[in-house]
Amino acid sequence: MFSRFVALPFLLFAVCAPAFADQAAPAPSKPAATVVSPNGELSVTASTDSENRPYYSVSRRGKPLISPSRLGFIFNDAPKLERNIALAGQQTRSFDETWEQPWGEQHFIRNHYNELRVTYKETAKPFRSFDVVFRVYDDGLGFRYEFSQQGTLGQIRIGEELTEFDLAEDGTAWWIPAGEFNRAEQLYQRTAIGEVGYAQTPITFKLADGSHLSIHEAALVDYSGMNLIRVENRRLKAQLTDGIGGPKVVRDAPFHTPWRTLQVSDTAGGLVESSLILNLNEPNQLDDVSWFKPMKYVGVWWEMHLDKKTWSSGPKHGASNENVMRHIDFAAANGFGGVLVEGWNVGWDGDWFGNGEDFSFTQPYPDFDIDKLAAYARSKGVQLIGHHETSGHAAHYESQLDAAFALDQREGIHMVKTGYVADAGQAKVIGTDGKLHYAWHEGQDMARHYQKVVTEAAKYQVAINSHEPIKDTGLRRTWPNWVSREGARGMEYNAWGNPGNPPEHEANLVFTRMLAGPMDFTPGVFGMQTKPGSRVATTWAKQLALYVVIYSPIQMAADLLENYEANPGPFQFIKDVPTDWEETRVLAGEVGDFVVTARRERDGNDWYLGAITDEQPRTLKVPLSFLSPGREYVAQIYRDGPDADWDKRPESIVIEQRKVDSGDTLELILAPGGGQAIRFVAE
Ligand code: NOJ
Ligand code: CA
Repeated sequence: MFSRFVALPFLLFAVCAPAFADQAAPAPSKPAATVVSPNGELSVTASTDSENRPYYSVSRRGKPLISPSRLGFIFNDAPKLERNIALAGQQTRSFDETWEQPWGEQHFIRNHYNELRVTYKETAKPFRSFDVVFRVYDDGLGFRYEFSQQGTLGQIRIGEELTEFDLAEDGTAWWIPAGEFNRAEQLYQRTAIGEVGYAQTPITFKLADGSHLSIHEAALVDYSGMNLIRVENRRLKAQLTDGIGGPKVVRDAPFHTPWRTLQVSDTAGGLVESSLILNLNEPNQLDDVSWFKPMKYVGVWWEMHLDKKTWSSGPKHGASNENVMRHIDFAAANGFGGVLVEGWNVGWDGDWFGNGEDFSFTQPYPDFDIDKLAAYARSKGVQLIGHHETSGHAAHYESQLDAAFALDQREGIHMVKTGYVADAGQAKVIGTDGKLHYAWHEGQDMARHYQKVVTEAAKYQVAINSHEPIKDTGLRRTWPNWVSREGARGMEYNAWGNPGNPPEHEANLVFTRMLAGPMDFTPGVFGMQTKPGSRVATTWAKQLALYVVIYSPIQMAADLLENYEANPGPFQFIKDVPTDWEETRVLAGEVGDFVVTARRERDGNDWYLGAITDEQPRTLKVPLSFLSPGREYVAQIYRDGPDADWDKRPESIVIEQRKVDSGDTLELILAPGGGQAIRFVAE
């Protein structure tokens, strides 16, 4: 590992006249500061406008990308910080390091940026000041506000952040609405930028010139999540998630906000390959996390969603000794690392959804002998995976956190799936007044809660996979035991129906939700008819390809065990595919249409390819130039059969082998709702 700090050449940073000027009456020239990306293509300028409001703008290859966009804050107990402001100082530096991920989609990541820090200061009383720090990379930029401790800025009570993103060009947007009851579990909408409403991030754009852009945030710590609301034309404005009282955020200075991020690429795939969000997070604070092993797992899970078993006690209780042992045996026989067991603990018998206070996180149901089952699993080289459904009652969960993780540690459980199934705005936290308050999953109090769970869990060597989580902002770099999350519509929607996930869903996810970080999507279902009226809208080959295109260090084989036992051919790919990677390349793709991803296994030579399409059949030519030159590979191909179709013949799959090398080009024929999965075994 190496790092260096270098002063930027003067060229990168000069006082010049800003591009932004009042249209009606040209403004007097104002001081401005500019910084460019290491490759010189992306340029950010910060200044103030003719009304002395701070703004920034971004251009790419000399063409505007973000028109002058405002910066500032509204406070609950002080005048807003937006007018009568001057650019009072500027500093630059450059940074270049390569760091190692303990696990990930890429082993080594280069963190190379040029930084500009500008100081904005009020020109009238009370003369408050704040810094905005811009880090400009070849693949995008991040900026954040930093407040030092000042007489008038002690405790800061933020009513709203006034950050704007005024897109310079028209185009298409893919987004999900914010503030809806089911949190982040909505179908992606594809609209003109001018039709975006109140949207969550990440939000993805394809501009008229073909460039792709994603707006999100990095390192969301002790702050409220940022949504975007379109105010006019293509001008989007930050709207922070509500807090539990008046202010949306309460912090003591000094403090800084999360990074507001813009990733930009010529291709949709370039957004996926970008490591900007991780780079803007703080390095690993846990050091050794080798006790967490990326893995595939099975679970006592899908059968509950299909109503074949229950979480609650009774004759159909899923978490029985017998059923769990069957899963442990299956995991051991097929090389899976873990067995998730839901419904193991007391609390599922009442009205648990959105309630939560009945749950015990230490008391198993009587037919779940935790000591015996954990020992049995260990004897077979398998781990039990714990489950803490909180129903959003964060306060109740926190009261048991230590005891719960201590139990896990005693039993050799190194991973826990958490759940917060309360509707949005219905989580429960204790406020500074000592009282119970309703809270939003992405508000500041819940941001603190999710972080507390992860950092407490780390003390007991437990990794966390949060469902109904706060959005991912790359904090796995800082706390690498935060291994995965849900935070979008996963497989479970195909059991519930009304409607299930449409064939384009995963091709949307890859270029939107997945830009935030790993997702516990739970692929691998072969039983396409789920409950009456509900189904899985993909082919089998696409189910296999999802293990490659959707990244997570933990991947479930979600289906009923009997469906794997009955189909050893396609199941072989699920057994073979790794969950930890040396490198990742997105070979082709368009948002919401299709994607082809190739990944090389960590510390190994085998490559894996996943290709998926939406409802459209497609033929894609894929050069295998990513393979090592001069080396032969056996391509183990799992492709849609000639009559495959998600609606009519999802199970039609052809499994075949052929020898290939890096000079070959494969033609991938994808059925409607189909896909293809390939393992390239290095000879
Ligand atoms: C919703 C989660 O996404 C699902 O995986 C889990 O089974 C249920 N909540 C119950 O906790
Ligand atoms: Ca869920």
